[in-house]
Amino acid sequence: MKRLDGKTALITGAGRGIGRAFAKAYVAEGARVAIADIDLDRAHDAAREIGVDAVAVEMDVTDRNSIDAAVTKTASVFGQVDVLINNAAQFTAAPIVEITHEDYARAFDINVGGTLFTMQSVARHMIDRGIKGKIINMASQAGRRGEALVAVYCATKAAVISLTQSAGLNLVSHGINVNAIAPGVVDGEHWDGVDALFAKYEGKALGQKKREVGRAVPIGRMAQAEDLTGMAVFLASKDADYIVAQTYNVDGGNWMS
Ligand SMILES: NC(=O)c1ccc[n+]([C@@H]2O[C@H](COP(=O)([O-])OP(=O)(O)OC[C@H]3O[C@@H](n4cnc5c(N)ncnc54)[C@H](O)[C@@H]3O)[C@@H](O)[C@H]2O)c1
Repeated sequence: MKRLDGKTALITGAGRGIGRAFAKAYVAEGARVAIADIDLDRAHDAAREIGVDAVAVEMDVTDRNSIDAAVTKTASVFGQVDVLINNAAQFTAAPIVEITHEDYARAFDINVGGTLFTMQSVARHMIDRGIKGKIINMASQAGRRGEALVAVYCATKAAVISLTQSAGLNLVSHGINVNAIAPGVVDGEHWDGVDALFAKYEGKALGQKKREVGRAVPIGRMAQAEDLTGMAVFLASKDADYIVAQTYNVDGGNWMS
């Protein structure tokens, strides 16, 4: 018996990076997975790699019709949605005096609105069908404290931690567990973009910021996406039935709370 046998998961932003690793880990534990991404080519690529237990779904988490359509499509392919991972997000960095309203609005729309309204759509689906489901939100160490050049992204991730607490308290009466994961620094295409932004604002060579943040982690290196899959499987499993409204740090020791 695998830990997620018979479960269906909808994972947003699963076309690449951490979400894609979650999708692989979930299928290895017996689940079927909807790889939902605004970039449908990426989603198809991930679904092809994972096999018959994965389906690609086009989804824009800033568009409530698109969210509802993705939930409906997942349910029509696999029967229902038992687990949601709100993983899609956008990173942005700039000094306070250079932040644009456009960047601010887009990051809040994806990272905060996307998390809230996807939780809402999936929670309605779960409540209508009496599903005792699990919802996992991707927070970040960035949500634990501010960073000089990362005001907007940090604020969005602090909001994700807060939404996890409120939604956790609200939905537990329906038998739905809402929790979050706060990674530290995870290598991959996302961090290539972060590294390039720090190169621009801190005058560093490309790759330098990555080396610095990796060395600064108490465990001695950046995470790989696979370092996070254990927590994601655990929080979706029966073993986490008594866990509500929590945010777990999986960050090699970067933050203690
Ligand atoms: N990589 C890290 O170091 C790190 C650290 C802490 C937290 N996180 C969080 O983990 C999660 C995954 O990070 P990642 O590194 O895999 O990111 P990533 O940028 O590699 O992947 C994000 C995915 O989300 C998709 N996406 C973007 N906007 C979307 C939208 N509007 N609708 C649907 N999909 C959309 C992208 O197409 C992409 O495939 C994010 O929530 C991120 O904030 C990452």
